[in-house]
Amino acid sequence: MCGIIGYIGPKEAADVLIDGLKRLEYRGYDSAGVAVLNGGGIEIERAEGKLTKLEAKIGKHKPHGHLGVGHTRWATHGVPSERNAHPHRAGDVVVVHNGIIENYEALRKGLLQKGCRFRSETDTEIFCHLINEELKEHKEIAKAIRSALKKVRGSYAIVVLYAKEPKKLFAAKSGSPLVLGFGDKEALVASDVPALLPYTRDVSFLEDDEFAILEEGHLSVFDEKGHPKPAEKTHIDWNPVMAEKAGFKHFMLKEIFEQPRVVEQTLMGRVQLGSGKLTLEGIEKVFGKKGFPFKKIEIIACGTSYHAGLVGKYWLEQLAHVPTVVSLASEFRYAEPLIGKETLVISISQSGETADTLAATKMAKEMKAKVLGICNVLGSSLGRMADNTLYTHAGPEIGVASTKAFTGQLTVLYLLTLEIAKRRDKISKTELIKKINEVRSAPQYLEKILENADAIKKIALGCKEAPHFLFIARGPHYPLALEGALKLKEIAYVHAEGFAAGELKHGPIALVDKGVPVVALVPPSDTYEKILSNVEEVKARGAYTIAEGEVGDKHLADKVDAVIPVPKTFYSITPLLYILPLQLFAYYIADAKGCDVDMPRNLAKSVTVE
Ligand code: AGP
Repeated sequence: MCGIIGYIGPKEAADVLIDGLKRLEYRGYDSAGVAVLNGGGIEIERAEGKLTKLEAKIGKHKPHGHLGVGHTRWATHGVPSERNAHPHRAGDVVVVHNGIIENYEALRKGLLQKGCRFRSETDTEIFCHLINEELKEHKEIAKAIRSALKKVRGSYAIVVLYAKEPKKLFAAKSGSPLVLGFGDKEALVASDVPALLPYTRDVSFLEDDEFAILEEGHLSVFDEKGHPKPAEKTHIDWNPVMAEKAGFKHFMLKEIFEQPRVVEQTLMGRVQLGSGKLTLEGIEKVFGKKGFPFKKIEIIACGTSYHAGLVGKYWLEQLAHVPTVVSLASEFRYAEPLIGKETLVISISQSGETADTLAATKMAKEMKAKVLGICNVLGSSLGRMADNTLYTHAGPEIGVASTKAFTGQLTVLYLLTLEIAKRRDKISKTELIKKINEVRSAPQYLEKILENADAIKKIALGCKEAPHFLFIARGPHYPLALEGALKLKEIAYVHAEGFAAGELKHGPIALVDKGVPVVALVPPSDTYEKILSNVEEVKARGAYTIAEGEVGDKHLADKVDAVIPVPKTFYSITPLLYILPLQLFAYYIADAKGCDVDMPRNLAKSVTVE
C-alpha cells in the first residue's frame, strides 16, 4: 500500500511532506519522493529505498514552496527504483497514486500512439499523460482530471499538482483510501490519518468517485456527477500509534479485516466476469503461449505459505489434474528431490526472503526446473530468482503472524489452477466462467464473516484458558486446520495441533480428554457426514466441540457445543473463507492472554537465516 500526502498552506511544503511520509512508513515502501510548486516551477526529488535517502537528497537543496505532494511507493508495477518512484510528471501535471490500474497497458498503448513518451514502468505515469491529453480538450484542470479518470479501470487514490494552478491541489479516489485534513489556513490530503494528526484532527474520508479541491484553509468536495457536496467532518481522537493501526488494537487484527480488500486487489486485473478471461502476468514466460509443458508440480514453502501450498495441491490435482507434491523448503533442500525440466516448481513466500525457501528455489533451478514465484513483495529476492512471479497484492504485512498474505496466496493459487486447467482442457469454458464468478464473490463473503467477529470472540474467550487445542478437517480444509493451529501456537503460545480428521483414530484421539477444545471445519461437502462422525467421536470422549459450518446448519449445531457460522457459499472458495474465523479465534485468545500479538516471542516476520 503506497503512502500519499498533499499540502497547501503557509508552511514549507517539503517539511510537511517528509513528516507526513514518515508517519506513513508503517505502510511499507521501497522508494519515496516529493514535488513542490513554487514561483520557479515544479521541483521533484525522488529516491529508492528509505526516506533517509530522500532526506539526504533534499538536505542539499530543499525545494521551497507552500504547495506539494509526497509519496512512499509499495511497488506493484515496475521494480523499486528512483525512475519508478512517485511523483510522476508530464508537462505541468504531477501525480502521486495509490492503487492498481487494470487497463494500463491499453491506455499506455493509446498514449504512445499519440506521441507520449514514458520515463517509468509504472501504471501511475499514465495518469499524468492522460490528464495532459484531456487538457487539450477540457482546458480546465479539474474537468481534465475527471475526464481522464473516466477512462481508468481499477483502484486509485490520486493527488494532482498542476503548475498553472499554484493555489490548488486536486484529489480523487476509487477503491484506495484518501482522507482530507481541515487545517487553520491550510489543507491536507493523505492515504491515512496518521499523516494529518500533527496539523489537524478534523478530517473527512473521501468516498469512492468523489473529487476534492484543496485550497489554503478551504476544501471543496464534489460527488461523482461533479456536483458540490458538504464534506462530512470527523474528529479523530486516536493517538498517533493507534492511528497507524486505523484504530485497531493490533496490526494483525487490522490485517485480518483487510482480507476482503486483499482478495479484491489480488483478483483485480486478472479476471473478467462473464468472459472466463484470465490474465496472469508473465505466465507465458514459464508456460509458453498455450498448453502446459510440465508433467508435475512441486510446491516449496515454509510455515503459513506451506499451508497455502497444501491447499493448492488439492485444487491443482482436482481441477487441473496435475500430480502435485508440496514440500517444506527446509526438507526439500536436504532431500533428493525427483525434479527436472519436466517439473514446475512453485515457490511461495510472503516476504520473498525466507532463507530455506530461497535455498530450495536455487536448488530447483540448478536441477533445471522452471520456477514460478508467489510473493507479496515486489523486488524481493524470490522475485528476482524465479522465472516469473505472481504477486499477492496484500500490501505490507506488519504482524509477524501471516494472515492477509495467506488469503492472497490462496487467491493466486486458485487463479493459477484455473489457468492450468484451462490450458490442459480440463475445464469447460462454462465451468471456467462459473468458477471465476465464484472466486470474484469471495470478498463479500469475507465481509459477512467479519461482521460476526464478536460472536467468534465470545467463543474464543470461552476456552482461552485451555492448555491444548485440536483442529480437525478434511480435504482442502485440512491445511486450514494446520494453519489455525499454527496461529494459536505462534501468537498465544498455546499447544495446538491440526489433524486430518480421518487420522484421529490412528492415535491423536488419545489426546482427547474432558474439556479439550476441538475445532472442526465442517462445510457442506462430500465428507460432511464423515467429519460429523469424527466430531461425535471426540464429543463422546468429553471434548469441547466448536464447529465452523454453514449458517443455519441445525444438524451440525445440535451435535456441537459452539458453532461459528460461515455464510452459505460455493464449495470451491470455502478454503478462502474458512480460515478467517480461525485467525480471529487465535487473535482473541492471544489478546486476552496479554500476548504481544504483533511481535510474538522468539519469532521474526521473515526468517532470513537458516
Ligand atoms: C506465519 O504466521 C509465520 N510467521 C511463518 O510461518 C511464515 O509463514 C514463514 O516463516 C514463511 O514466511 P514467508 O511466507 O515470508 O516465506
